Amino acid sequence: MTDGKKVSIKIQSLREQIEEHNYYYHVLDKPVITDADYDRLFRELQSLEHEYPQFIVPQSPTQRVGSKPLEGFSQIKHDIPMLSLSNAFSTDDVFAFVKRIKDRLNIENEVEFIAEPKLDGLAVSIIYENGNLIQAATRGDGTTGEDITANVKTIKTVPLKLRGDFAGTRIEVRGEVIMTHQGFAELNRQQDEQETGKRYVNPRNAAAGSLRQLDPAITAVRPLEMYFYSLDQYHGVDSQLETQLDKLKLMKNAGLRVNPHTEVVADAEGCVAVHQQLAELRESLAYDIDGIVYKVNKLDYQQSLGFVARAPRWALAHKFPAQEETTIVNSIEVQVGRTGAITPVARLEPVFVGGVTVSNATLHNKSEIERLDVRVGDTVIIRRAGDVIPEVVEVIKNKRPKSAKPFVFPTSCPVCDSEVVYDSSEIIARCSGGLFCSAQLKEGMKHFVSRKAMDIDGLGSKLIEQLVDTKTIHTVADIYKLDKPTIAGLERMADKSAQNLMDAIEKSKTSTLARFLYALGINHVGETTAQALANHFTELNSLMHADQEELESIEDIGPIVAQSIVNFFNEQHNLDVINELLESGIDWPVTEKIQVSEDNTFNGKTVVLTGTLSMPREQAKATIVNLGGKVTSSVSKNTDFVIVGDNPGSKAAKAEKLGVEIIDETVFREYANLNIRSS
Ligand code: IVH
Repeated sequence: MTDGKKVSIKIQSLREQIEEHNYYYHVLDKPVITDADYDRLFRELQSLEHEYPQFIVPQSPTQRVGSKPLEGFSQIKHDIPMLSLSNAFSTDDVFAFVKRIKDRLNIENEVEFIAEPKLDGLAVSIIYENGNLIQAATRGDGTTGEDITANVKTIKTVPLKLRGDFAGTRIEVRGEVIMTHQGFAELNRQQDEQETGKRYVNPRNAAAGSLRQLDPAITAVRPLEMYFYSLDQYHGVDSQLETQLDKLKLMKNAGLRVNPHTEVVADAEGCVAVHQQLAELRESLAYDIDGIVYKVNKLDYQQSLGFVARAPRWALAHKFPAQEETTIVNSIEVQVGRTGAITPVARLEPVFVGGVTVSNATLHNKSEIERLDVRVGDTVIIRRAGDVIPEVVEVIKNKRPKSAKPFVFPTSCPVCDSEVVYDSSEIIARCSGGLFCSAQLKEGMKHFVSRKAMDIDGLGSKLIEQLVDTKTIHTVADIYKLDKPTIAGLERMADKSAQNLMDAIEKSKTSTLARFLYALGINHVGETTAQALANHFTELNSLMHADQEELESIEDIGPIVAQSIVNFFNEQHNLDVINELLESGIDWPVTEKIQVSEDNTFNGKTVVLTGTLSMPREQAKATIVNLGGKVTSSVSKNTDFVIVGDNPGSKAAKAEKLGVEIIDETVFREYANLNIRSS
């Protein structure tokens, strides 16, 4: 065999491997090799093609960014028009649709439908000849679209070559090009970073903007993806296709990604059930969908139903509530949070969006207001997607009233008049008033009493506001100094409710160290960090005296969090409040500080933990380390003890085999002299 022949065979084999891995990764969503191994194959192909350019073909996986920037897009007339869909907004509409179909077909039996998400992106038609991608076009006006072949070839979920034998065939497939939420957020972040001054309003616009780049090299770095939903021409394909599902299967086998939330359902009931299911799933999907599309499954039914105007009679788009609406900004206010962060909020003319009535939208920060140039009186597009807070995405400038003035961001706190200061990135504005600011005080108290903190049932926002506004309480410690007559004297309080609140305050005094730390509201110390601190220090005093270095040695605590903890305990007024709280009787069961004696069981020993213990893992580890032992993760002949909790895994079995001493938690506590003191 000549060298050339050998190289050509090697190149062919690499391409096939890469294509097969693309199929496993993109279509089946089950990669069988690591990214690093994939990259290695890819680089090997690239370097061989570089050395032997005579073997490069346009379908090679390396040729996604092939052509130079275009002057403009040329027009392509679609072989078959790209239609739109009729819309439905209610269950009644769906029942009427199914009835119309049954009447027309003159059948009484169940009719099957394919139900699949209506993806919120751009429809694209792609033609493959002999299995090779030769053309891609936008929908355009439905009859004529634009030639975006070079751009579509850069999308990794679009195969350049179909899997299987497609010699002698010409097929046309259609689908939706989308951008995921994550891709969209990342793209906007990059746009900000590169100061392009261009931000996309939503993933759909971002996908459209990315597809309409004249330079395919730009499209190539945009996070575009594609799902295929229709097979419109299949000349030369000798499979017997009877249903829409057969088409989807053919596409999937050919390497064209089909949406995984696709189902076969029966009648209107089946359709409506899927709509319900996907409406719930919608929030958790990685991309936007704006409804469900139902398509009659049997192709001969589709054929006889035909089209009306510009939409098929056999398909229906059952829409979800819109996620974007226009409304008017009635005012712009700023809110002061627990840490003093100042967040501007747009008060809106109430509008129904994403299934709920929205009357406030966040404007995030000062630079966001400047970027949007949002003003009182403006007509704006607001968006509520998933569980994110509603936000203003765009101002419709041509609807702006002449009198509208730019919003002036406050230079002093609207609540306490302290100076507004900025963080190092100049983005987050903060009130510098600390606990002098009643807004910060109120928010701090709401946090202190909340369920995951001190859990004082019945001390709601309204009461806290009254207590602060009437200067009855000045710090969280004052909560524990309240007496019944004072509480009963507040608005909407009576003797009984005052007693209930007194009881709840009393009950909250028995807490845990983790809850107490979380309740203090130390910047950057959330629930998980509070738990980690409690596990590590087991009592408050050593945490209060810990330095930056010790704090950073705790898993998941970085320099910023450590610094914030040190700063907090350096403030005299924080220490005063903590003392008052402890004096009022707040306490928690503590793990006794261990008396470390040299001759304890674990000194110098290697210990492995397995199964679920009644104490947090971190605490068990800390105990052993304090006693001079070492905790490792796997059992070997060097292991001295294996401590087993509930449902131990293979480690216990291995210990048994190796003859390592196995002890349970009770024995561990005994050996460690670990008693829980309940105070
Ligand atoms: S089928 C004749 N299926 O919706 C059938 N369209 O309103 C035409 N779309 O232009 C399309 N997801 O951009 C179909 N699963 C889906 C879809 C879908 C999104 C879009 C497509 C089309 C528009 C029609």
